[in-house]
Amino acid sequence: MDITPIALVLMTATSDHSPNPPLPYEGYVFAHQHLLGIADISEHDITYLLDRADAAVEISRQVEKKKVALRGRTQINLFFEASTRTQSSFELAGKRLGADVMNMSVGSSSVKKGETLIDTAMTLNAMRPDILVVRHQSAGATELLAQKVGCCVVNGGDGAHEHPTQALLDALTIRRHKGGIARKTVAICGDILHSRVARSNIMLLNALGARVRVIAPSTLLPAGVEQLGVEVFNRMEEGLPGCDVVMMLRLQRERMAGALIPSVREYFQFFGLDRKRLAMAEPDALVMHPGPMNRGVEISSDVADGAQSVIQEQVEMGVALRMAVMETLVERFDQINSTTGGQDD
Ligand code: NCD
Repeated sequence: MDITPIALVLMTATSDHSPNPPLPYEGYVFAHQHLLGIADISEHDITYLLDRADAAVEISRQVEKKKVALRGRTQINLFFEASTRTQSSFELAGKRLGADVMNMSVGSSSVKKGETLIDTAMTLNAMRPDILVVRHQSAGATELLAQKVGCCVVNGGDGAHEHPTQALLDALTIRRHKGGIARKTVAICGDILHSRVARSNIMLLNALGARVRVIAPSTLLPAGVEQLGVEVFNRMEEGLPGCDVVMMLRLQRERMAGALIPSVREYFQFFGLDRKRLAMAEPDALVMHPGPMNRGVEISSDVADGAQSVIQEQVEMGVALRMAVMETLVERFDQINSTTGGQDD
């Protein structure tokens, strides 16, 4: 297989807009049909997507926001779980790339009538989409679906497993503020146990050389969390000093089987991020949250809206990052199909 042409496409695609020095992309090929998790991609893939997202930020800030990269293509957002920002972010990203975007939420689909995940996927596949964005309440569902369809699949969050585009957009936000990720100290605080955002972030931040801490009560930490390459703290007062980034997570009460916290009030008292606690981190520490936020539960309103908060910017970065991901996957898919006559791996 001749891989040179796509490498050239990728080089030109990034070099014009990126504010970062160009990486040595020569010979580099994004080698994946799907984006299912951070666990599957390399450090180089991550940096490539972030560089490309930087270019998409510039496009999104123009008055005229439309590109033609996905013109004539069909993107289906298949969401089995409630979502506001992720679904609308993928929708806007697809539209800015020129794709036709269809949103399918479970509430209005045949899944309510008992159709299986695979049947739904096969039905949608028969409509010949180019990209399927899937969110599902079960870990591994997106991967299963990807095995059954002929297009590119992006994981929009599967159970407590992975949420790769969230971790990538978080890294993009950090990188643009701090100039890089390596050697930065990042604390991920709160409900680590149920959080796909935490899992994907831990892998990504480690891959880029950050020092990752988790701060949570032991009931909200998965067994063996240290093996993911994090330092574990059970008290905010111990984990926050020296942090360059404080990432707060929502208490995912819908995923909690029993009482893992005594009460919401007590949780805020010990694990909520308020001004006093934030002052323990570095003075220029970024405050992040993937949303949806529960003000007064994991974060106080003044911190969420304060000068150190980049929560709104995360939303902006989300659209750009998803543009970069979908553009990259489709480009690579086209390239493989034109060189192999459709025989993809
Ligand atoms: C997160 C999710 O759905 O995993 N939100 C998001 O994608 N922006 C986190 C959460 O639900 O708390």
